[in-house]
Amino acid sequence: MKVLVTGATGGIGRAICFAFHAAAKARGRQLVLAAAASRPGSALDALSAELADEGVQVIPLHADLGDPAACARLAADAIERCAGLDALVSNAGIVRGAPLATLDVDDWDTVFALDVRATWLLARGARTALAQSRGAIVAVASVASLYPFPGLGAYSPAKAALGMLCRQLAQEWAADGIRVNTVSPGLIRTPLTEPIYRNEEFLHRREATVPLGRIGTPDDVARAVVHLAGPDAGYVTGVDLRVDGGLGDHILAMIPGVPRSPERG
Ligand SMILES: NC(=O)c1ccc[n+]([C@@H]2O[C@H](COP(=O)([O-])OP(=O)(O)OC[C@H]3O[C@@H](n4cnc5c(N)ncnc54)[C@H](OP(=O)(O)O)[C@@H]3O)[C@@H](O)[C@H]2O)c1
Repeated sequence: MKVLVTGATGGIGRAICFAFHAAAKARGRQLVLAAAASRPGSALDALSAELADEGVQVIPLHADLGDPAACARLAADAIERCAGLDALVSNAGIVRGAPLATLDVDDWDTVFALDVRATWLLARGARTALAQSRGAIVAVASVASLYPFPGLGAYSPAKAALGMLCRQLAQEWAADGIRVNTVSPGLIRTPLTEPIYRNEEFLHRREATVPLGRIGTPDDVARAVVHLAGPDAGYVTGVDLRVDGGLGDHILAMIPGVPRSPERG
């Protein structure tokens, strides 16, 4: 299986790389993994070495995906070096927090460039190869695409746009046999969110808002991504898979005066 993963050195990206390895191993298939970071360096070197130790054929690549030309180049490089492509995972993303009243215009543009445009341009660059393999695209969105997240600036609007971009690609490219889906993580503990979870009070209060009673792990998200990218989801396109422990649907349960189910253990 030939896969390109962006944001590969981040918390969720790294887990996605290892989850593809586990799935390929379980099927007795060789994984060729183009692992893309924003820049070369020790994080990408360390990830590549770890995956290579596991027997993965790793192709470390780097590109600033805020640059449109770099998106096209990255897709082309990955396809050339992997000799084809079965799955594109567009996982790289950023948050530039600030209320919309004060958000800097450059921050808005930066978030939209990475969290929306990069997926479109990577997908476009990979389209011919994915049509040949009847492959799949999975983009990592967020529950913030479904529910406004005040204070996070352009993040919710951008992830919502990403969701619609993928649904539209799913329609436009279904005739090519290319499936396009999104995964929307809820509260996940990664380097991006670690500063919040290091605060014990925030950790416990956040755990209490999740019906499943815990913060999600990068592996929780990675397994959903690999499922949507693989043959078990062969008739699934244009969907968003929430991986949020029930958080998104919990809003009405928080209204005072509603009869409660028994307290958790
Ligand atoms: N953690 C959560 O709770 C959560 C919840 C919902 C959705 N998500 C989404 O999940 C995805 C992964 O997040 P994460 O928590 O794993 O965050 P993370 O650890 O900060 O990883 C983000 C990745 O994006 C890459 N990236 C940032 N700017 C880039 C650029 N200009 N060009 C190329 N790559 C760039 C980073 O690469 P470098 O390190 O090489 O710069 C990094 O690997 C994101 O799309 C995020 O929005 C996360």
